[in-house]
Amino acid sequence: MKLSIRFVLPLVFVLAILSYVTLPIVDTFTMRWFIRDLDIRSRLVTNTMEEPLSELINANSKAKILIFFKSVVQDERLFAIGFCDLNGVLQYQTDTFLKDFNCNSDLLTNATNSTVLPLEKGSIHIAAHPIDYKGKAIGRLILVHDMSFITRRGADTRKYVLYLFVALAIVISLVTVLLAHLSWRGWVSGMRTLLRGEGVLDPRSQFSRPELLPLAKDLRDLVRDLELNRTSKDESHALWTAASLKKILKEELIGEEVLIVSNREPYIHLQKNNKIEVQVPASGLVTALEPIMRACSGTWIAHGSGTADRSVVDKHDRVLVPPEEPAYAIRRVWLSKEEEAGYYYGFSNEGLWPLCHIAHTRPIFRVEDWDYYVKVNEKFAAVVLEEAKTEDPVILIQDYHLALLPRMVREKLPKATIISFWHIPWPNPEAFGICPWREEILHGLLGSSIMGFHTRFHCNNFLDTVDRFLEARIDNETSTVSYGGKLTAVKEYPISIEWPSRWSKDQKSILETRTEIRRVNNLPENILLGIGIDRMDYTKGILERFLAVEKLLEKFPEWIGRFTFIQIAAPSRSSIEQYQNFESEVRALAQKINTRYGKDGYQPIYLKVEHHTPQQVFEYYRAADICMVTSLHDGMNLVAKEFISARDDNKGVLILSQFTGASRELPEALIVNPYNIAQCANALQIALTMPDSEQKARMRSMRSLVQEFNVYRWAARMLKDAARMKERARLRGRIRESQSSHQGNFSI
Ligand code: F6P
Repeated sequence: MKLSIRFVLPLVFVLAILSYVTLPIVDTFTMRWFIRDLDIRSRLVTNTMEEPLSELINANSKAKILIFFKSVVQDERLFAIGFCDLNGVLQYQTDTFLKDFNCNSDLLTNATNSTVLPLEKGSIHIAAHPIDYKGKAIGRLILVHDMSFITRRGADTRKYVLYLFVALAIVISLVTVLLAHLSWRGWVSGMRTLLRGEGVLDPRSQFSRPELLPLAKDLRDLVRDLELNRTSKDESHALWTAASLKKILKEELIGEEVLIVSNREPYIHLQKNNKIEVQVPASGLVTALEPIMRACSGTWIAHGSGTADRSVVDKHDRVLVPPEEPAYAIRRVWLSKEEEAGYYYGFSNEGLWPLCHIAHTRPIFRVEDWDYYVKVNEKFAAVVLEEAKTEDPVILIQDYHLALLPRMVREKLPKATIISFWHIPWPNPEAFGICPWREEILHGLLGSSIMGFHTRFHCNNFLDTVDRFLEARIDNETSTVSYGGKLTAVKEYPISIEWPSRWSKDQKSILETRTEIRRVNNLPENILLGIGIDRMDYTKGILERFLAVEKLLEKFPEWIGRFTFIQIAAPSRSSIEQYQNFESEVRALAQKINTRYGKDGYQPIYLKVEHHTPQQVFEYYRAADICMVTSLHDGMNLVAKEFISARDDNKGVLILSQFTGASRELPEALIVNPYNIAQCANALQIALTMPDSEQKARMRSMRSLVQEFNVYRWAARMLKDAARMKERARLRGRIRESQSSHQGNFSI
């Protein structure tokens, strides 16, 4: 005890003085950095707003300007915006703007300036930037940022620096005490005993050493604290929302810009009867990523495929979306008819799509299609480079259309964090090996920092395929591939949907929706309804679904006239012959079954081959008694999760194919093999006769899973992993630098 005091107390004293001197310096630096950050941020916001704002000012549309300002101040730190004209008159401002603000105030004397103003409840940062219209100055934009977060961050930083000193004090003190107390042998044997957890705390043990007791206790307490801290951090995000995702972006990927790249765009502008209509395409990818983009406010790069897409973009081929409440930009990539035919219809959808889905449709690979695929991937890469404003953006590359893009971008932006997500299944090496350009595709994908799939099974197939066809080192334990000296993490991230759904707002009651949907389809009010919502695609098991309905009516004729199945099939990839043939088969089968069982105005199957808005689809989910998802093979299938999210009455039965990724997460659905028609018909019979109480028990459990594992959590997991990888890369870089400065050049 005496010895401890002799060594430890002076040490703690010195460290306390050190922290006393250091903390104010840390404070000053933190403040300076944050003010610089806010200056840069204000400039960026002004650059982004300048064009639309100057147009609105020129058009003198005050109402629109105020709406525009309001949408920009959604950002939690930017709390007020104003605009001063050249005469120094405050023309437009948000409600939150400073009272009595003087445009000619001394605070902002120069054309471009910023200042920090201390107020009663904390400080604010005011920045003024000139606004031009067609090269002529028209006034200044005043941006007011709340700086309270700096105080919070400062407090955090102080806390962590203090912790650091305390930890240092503990470690150094313990080492000092140990060195003073123990002989080398005694120390070694003591440490061994301590690490084994034996004897130290047991006074009866022959290894018991009283001087180690405090050390062991401290270590145990430390481990317990860390453990507690970790769990509470995970649990604090039990319900993931757009706001918590935003927080991750701000806190863990500070200052990082986010780019999404996909073939399909989230909003398509179409020319219809001299009017421009906006369509949300039927795409699981869009359903999942759109809410993420709303939360992150980045840029989404995609093929501009709509007939009016060109007429709505600005001179940089960008358009702000969603149209009703702009939150992010789509940057459109234009493709010629030939490029679209070769890259999209040809290589992607006649080659890779059937290759990856075990749906027994033969893949077709043509050299010309491959050439276009390479060319279009290069085109996308050029646009990514144009859009990237920093050297280390986070780039989320989506799906099989862009398999070469990760490598192309990596070569130009070596510091970028590239997360590729493969939305469809990845087959085993034998199946993938059919592709004549298998090595090129794998080489392309391994330009990614993270390669994501929906299931572990698809990750394993990918790792096996890399192992089979490339010279790469695979670590199955950490699920990483080391290829060409670079690491790619291969991880499963089961995709999901936003919760609560945007479409659930202002919904009619389930009862009203049931009545309405039956009325518009001329169906009797009490008829039981099954629905299928898909793109018209041969992987979706639509034929099998119809055969199951036919079998049901055959085995249980009491349902004739009492059960109808509505199939909504969005037209898809219709230039491809296999899709045309498939559509004909679907139509013919529906007609055959309707002829066989239809009578007196009753029709067992309603086939609607047309686009439906997400809002309309949501209503069908709410009106139905059963939803059938019978894909022959599907990466995840978000229709299953959307149906669940629509059923706030906890009712409705989901029949789900065992060959979807979703079936792994939703065992409470009636899981079927779609190739087994009799089993699917039985599932329909079970669903139609399932008591309310059982429906509710199953639906409740599925709803709580989808709510918890929603799409914000999906994105947050990937972004957190990306942040961690970035941090590790930075650390490795620093270690390498310091080692080479000590020992000359060598590799680690
Ligand atoms: O989810 C797989 C996927 O191919 C997406 O990439 C795509 O957006 C969606 O299905 C719909 O297909 P398409 O974009 O070809 O209409």
